[in-house]
Amino acid sequence: MGFPETRMRRLRSSEQMRALVRETTLEPGDLILPMFICTGEGVRRPISSMPGVFNLSVDAAVREAEDAASLGLGGLLLFGLPDTKDEQATGAWHHDGIVQKALRALKQVGAARKLVLIADVCLCEYTSHGHCGVVVKSGDDYLVDNDPSLEILARTAASLAKAGADIVAPSDMMDGRVAAIRRALDTDASANTAILSYASKFASAFYGPFREAADSAPQFGDRKTYQMDGGNVREAMREIDLDIAEGADMILMKPAMPYLDVVRAARERVDVPIGAYQVSGEYSMLQAAFEKGWLDRDRTILESLIGIRRAGADFIVTYFAKDAAKLL
Ligand code: PBG
Repeated sequence: MGFPETRMRRLRSSEQMRALVRETTLEPGDLILPMFICTGEGVRRPISSMPGVFNLSVDAAVREAEDAASLGLGGLLLFGLPDTKDEQATGAWHHDGIVQKALRALKQVGAARKLVLIADVCLCEYTSHGHCGVVVKSGDDYLVDNDPSLEILARTAASLAKAGADIVAPSDMMDGRVAAIRRALDTDASANTAILSYASKFASAFYGPFREAADSAPQFGDRKTYQMDGGNVREAMREIDLDIAEGADMILMKPAMPYLDVVRAARERVDVPIGAYQVSGEYSMLQAAFEKGWLDRDRTILESLIGIRRAGADFIVTYFAKDAAKLL
């Protein structure tokens, strides 16, 4: 039956009607707020390329977590800015590493216990060269060496779990790291710590502002030998299959907006929970447009997030988490 018997506009006639037939929902509990933890006290240092995002010392992060909990957010994703960096990424796995300290502090406060605490597992914030794994140099050439990186990543994950992470989230894109991490967690009495693997992470220009926020830009070369090529969706499915086979409890897709077809393909293929990361560049370009008055802030934030949910993500990591929760 077509027009005039069928009139699609009937079901759009009021907000109540639209709410009744809405297929995709968005709730504060679907949102994960990333946080960048730095040393010091009372530090709340703005990140110039990410208006509204800050480097936070542990005490400031605790206050931010209380805010996040009162807004009903699903959880936090923690990144660390250590005071010193070295070739072995010592700050990543040290008992007194900055994220380990933050996790222990967060576990002490009641409000933060309402949140799922996710710790990013990667070496780039902790290595002097800014690569996500161990680097072997030969002349002018260099290699991000896969297998020696696994042991450090596994040690990092075990240390973060011990400090209180409910979930560890490897974002390095080394082969075999999920299995190595699972083994390390299980032998270290952290069998109940879940793994959220960044299974399909593309080598993206949209990470630019993050590298200022986390002080993690590679000092030479790029990440194209370990992060995925932007044209590949079948390869993304192989990455996902491998990570699940190695023991990933959930997978994370990133970036979100330029890769929504990959999120959809993953949703149709696997049954594990799927998250998508609306990354720093997605956030910053929207902020820039808001500042210029070119886009309506509130509506655009919610539309960008609903689009990611509709593509198939169960939850979203987003720097807009608090703003969105206030709008919902
Ligand atoms: C660490 C990591 C990055 C992001 C999350 N984990 C940066 C990168 O791979 O260079 C990017 C997140 C964002 O842009 O918001 N490897």
